[in-house]
Amino acid sequence: MPRPSSGQVIFQPMGRRADAQPKQNLLQLALHAGVGLEAPCGGKGLCGKCRVRPDGPASPPTPAETALLGQDTQAGMRLACQTSMPQGGPVWVPPESRQHRQVILTSGQSGELELDQTVRSYQVHVPPPRLEEPEAGRERLFAALAQSAGERLNPPPRLPLGLLRQLPLHLARDNGRLSVALRNGHEIVALGPAQDGPPLGLAVDLGTTTVVAYLCDLDSGQLLAVSSEMNPQVPYGDDVISRISCCAADPADLAKLSRAAVECINTLAQEACAQAGVDPSRILECVIVGNSAMHHIFLALDPASLAAAPYAPLVRGPVEVKARQAGLALGPEAWLYWLPLKAGFVGADIVAAALAVGADQIEEPTLLLDLGTNGEMVLAAHGRMMACSTAAGPALEGGHIGQGMRGAPGAVERVSMEPGAARASLRVIGNQRPVGFCGSGLVSLISCLLETGLLNSNGGFDQHRAKGLVRPGAQGPEFVAAPAADTGHGRDLALTSQDVAEVQLAKAAIRAGAEVLMAEMGIERLSRVLLAGAFGNYLDPWEASRLGLFPPVPVECIQGVGNAAGVGAVMSLLSRRQRLRAGDMARSMGYVELSGHPLFQDLFVDSMAFPPGQPGEEL
Ligand code: FES
Repeated sequence: MPRPSSGQVIFQPMGRRADAQPKQNLLQLALHAGVGLEAPCGGKGLCGKCRVRPDGPASPPTPAETALLGQDTQAGMRLACQTSMPQGGPVWVPPESRQHRQVILTSGQSGELELDQTVRSYQVHVPPPRLEEPEAGRERLFAALAQSAGERLNPPPRLPLGLLRQLPLHLARDNGRLSVALRNGHEIVALGPAQDGPPLGLAVDLGTTTVVAYLCDLDSGQLLAVSSEMNPQVPYGDDVISRISCCAADPADLAKLSRAAVECINTLAQEACAQAGVDPSRILECVIVGNSAMHHIFLALDPASLAAAPYAPLVRGPVEVKARQAGLALGPEAWLYWLPLKAGFVGADIVAAALAVGADQIEEPTLLLDLGTNGEMVLAAHGRMMACSTAAGPALEGGHIGQGMRGAPGAVERVSMEPGAARASLRVIGNQRPVGFCGSGLVSLISCLLETGLLNSNGGFDQHRAKGLVRPGAQGPEFVAAPAADTGHGRDLALTSQDVAEVQLAKAAIRAGAEVLMAEMGIERLSRVLLAGAFGNYLDPWEASRLGLFPPVPVECIQGVGNAAGVGAVMSLLSRRQRLRAGDMARSMGYVELSGHPLFQDLFVDSMAFPPGQPGEEL
């Protein structure tokens, strides 16, 4: 590797450099250098994913680091978050440690996309003042607007000072002909040339891992463009708890994480506008949904109360502010509307998803599940709804799994294996050699192992049947899904007993949460399961059912609903009625705090085992 100039760390193969700082570890320097490293635990030295190989003097490894790295220490591997190189030097970043752009789910099943705009545009003609009646410019504008809108505007709308200053220019340009954007009938939010294009709106799903923005024409309701990106907060931790503790450690970090999310949305707005050939200043309304932690951090509100019992958010109802106050670079008078939260861990995203599937009108018992580090779910039946959130942990997103990763190129996403076969056949995202398992690949592999009898319902490898396929590993028996010669990182790709146990914990938490909701609503059997979000969408219903991820339901009644939170955000952008309906749903939805629920612990323990029967027909 080329030697960097003294005092610099150079990350290879990217060739990015950062000045060595004695107090900064390699993970922090990578962030400065713009090198994305996997860091699901946020740099706490727990996940073992930020492996790099320094080629120069480095701080000595700690015993915990050595234990996590295992045999890799002999190859010179270190954890970037635990290693510093005060004198600089080259650092090799292996492919599995590089942050990959996740496959981002942008589409969703659309619910009712009705139009009832918050912002409407009008073409007006403002006559010049007359000597005998020298009416003021602003009042003449109001009168012309009332005429175009066909209604008395009483009281007259607000006209912000910035727009009042522009009024003479607009009046002079085309003999008093101009377009006016009016919000909710009581505030003018833009003035423009006559026949200016329609006002635009932006709906954003601010996820913990990915961010998706939908650009819409507010006059027609047409979707003009979609843009998406990884959440730039990911290097500060994969899950919401890591992000909250990052903010708690230093108030400056809250500002930093907030700015990262705001800038990400500004970039996505620009990208979507570039696709549609329009200017971001024409965006006059923005609706954002996201979980409670994303909500607080985006708004730079201290999220500490979300992480400690009783998990109360600082604000629960909708937040409606000028977009510029939050740092968004849209139209100068654009408004931002955050959909309401339900509770500390039941955020605006699940409220939006419930809106998208019309949960308030569902009759047959239906479970809406948004699976992530927190399994947020809503049980709906006969117009009633009840929500909870389970701490499923990151296993189903590939976290806490020895060779787990996000759904990015190189991740195993599907596994098949005939009984008695000598090895598994893997489907890998991007058709590459595999380097890890994403959530759907893990579920797929475990369901295969259960079906072929290599794994028993308690999560133990059947040593007798699995002969030759399962070998002893550092953490007990492990199944080799692909030998080193076939993988992208030159190491065996294996599923360990510990990985199986992590999946059991996650699925037991989800299943127990669903059963508590059923008990609370007096429901004995589900009619449908709707899987929202990326993980749910890529899951195979049969395989998910085989693991017992949720209470028994016929496999054909398990349905992916895509990015339902994004759809709910778009619905709320295009319609005031739907926005109010989302608020009503958040208010009327019951909420169960699982940590203090008397049934939860027993149901959790009962749900640890994999079901012995066929999917949907558990005994
Ligand atoms: S061990 Fe370094 S980021 Fe997790």
